[in-house]
Amino acid sequence: MSQELSSTKRDGFSSRFGIIAAAAGSAVGLGNIWKFPYIVGENGGSAFILVYLIAILLVGMPVLLAEFIIGRRGQSNAVRSFKKIAPKTPWFGIGWMGIVAAFMILGFYTVIAGYTIHYFILTVTNGFAGMTSDQIANTYQAFSTSSVAPIVYTIIFILLSLAILFGGVKEGIEKYSKILMPGLVGIIILLVIRAVTLPGASEGIEFLLKPNFSELSMSAVLDALGHSFFSLSVGMGTMLTYGSYINKKENLAVTTASIAVADTVIALLAGLAIFPAVFAFGIDPTAGPGLVFITLPNVFLQMPGGTIFGALFFFLLFIAALTSVVSIFEVIIAYVTEELKFSRRKAMGLTAITVVFISSLCALSNTPDSSLIFAGKSLFDWMDVLTANVLLPIGGLLIIIFLGFIFKRDQLEDELKQGSKSIKTTMAYITITKYIAPVAIAIVFLYGLGIINF
Ligand code: PFF
Repeated sequence: MSQELSSTKRDGFSSRFGIIAAAAGSAVGLGNIWKFPYIVGENGGSAFILVYLIAILLVGMPVLLAEFIIGRRGQSNAVRSFKKIAPKTPWFGIGWMGIVAAFMILGFYTVIAGYTIHYFILTVTNGFAGMTSDQIANTYQAFSTSSVAPIVYTIIFILLSLAILFGGVKEGIEKYSKILMPGLVGIIILLVIRAVTLPGASEGIEFLLKPNFSELSMSAVLDALGHSFFSLSVGMGTMLTYGSYINKKENLAVTTASIAVADTVIALLAGLAIFPAVFAFGIDPTAGPGLVFITLPNVFLQMPGGTIFGALFFFLLFIAALTSVVSIFEVIIAYVTEELKFSRRKAMGLTAITVVFISSLCALSNTPDSSLIFAGKSLFDWMDVLTANVLLPIGGLLIIIFLGFIFKRDQLEDELKQGSKSIKTTMAYITITKYIAPVAIAIVFLYGLGIINF
């Protein structure tokens, strides 16, 4: 092993379960429980799910594997790992793009994450009792467009993630993920059992499982692709950073597959916890972003045991968001501590202050008459669209090309051989997807920009 690749006293994950819990913790987030169900609802149910599964298999997973390989080889943050593997080339720009994307995602994501705390408190205290559906919708409207409350909850949420990050990788991220992720799985299973045993649940199950291709548009395909990146946390160096904390004994192909399966199963379970209940109470499934915060409180009000299940649901959303936010922060913190030589505490403080500033602007862009609206979209929406539909796909495209065409073959084989008897299948998978994934991303992307049309 060359000198630059030998590991120093770098912090890292200590067990296989810890790696899976932390990486799945990053992948499973608001994307699975808040966004996936509503984009499925808007795009006609299971036909969309099918496209999404293909996107995960042919595009998302190869990028995930590539990030793990690059990170473990580089043993460093997202920028330096590229510099070490391909010195004196501009590929490290991918790492920079990732850091920009990290700030942008944290900007809008922590705002919604803050909502989960507010909604958890509202359900636990029976705050929706006796409300009509209009009142529930007004409550959401008033809260999400207020200029104070969302910012306060966002700051509380950010402080909670810092508490986890403070312990570092092994004693912070890994330790808490090992507790929180099994908790999340337990809660979601309880919620699914409640939902599918409601009278009238079958219509919702059918909505999820019976394909309806008539509502499948090309923009739905773009959404599926963008979401496959977002959901697996790839395209911006998060999994690369986590990969740099994975020890040399782990089989990266198996880790990649486990995380993709966990992430997809949890997204489907979230759908199974939500749609049967939505249909059972005769509510419209295509409510969009308000599905979780407007539709579901209505559902919980009518459901036997609704207070407990409602509180559990928002707690689930909170945990899912927490382990994801922690992973995005880590991309920036790893960079700042390693490159600017700041202490972890100082790096966390500086990053958090910057994020609070961006998040506050995002939250304020949702207030009435806000001046933070550009071309008809709020700053909040821009951060979402630009990352999911532009930065992550471009980052993913470049990462795949880097692994497929720049990364040395002997180094690739060396990384894949760790913990693995045969690397034939993985090599074949990489060989195929290094052509398919970039072409798929490019087509969908050019379509999204209106440059090509079908
Ligand atoms: N994967 C997370 C989710 O589905 O909510 C979001 C996310 C986390 C995106 C980390 C990107 C990232 F780097």
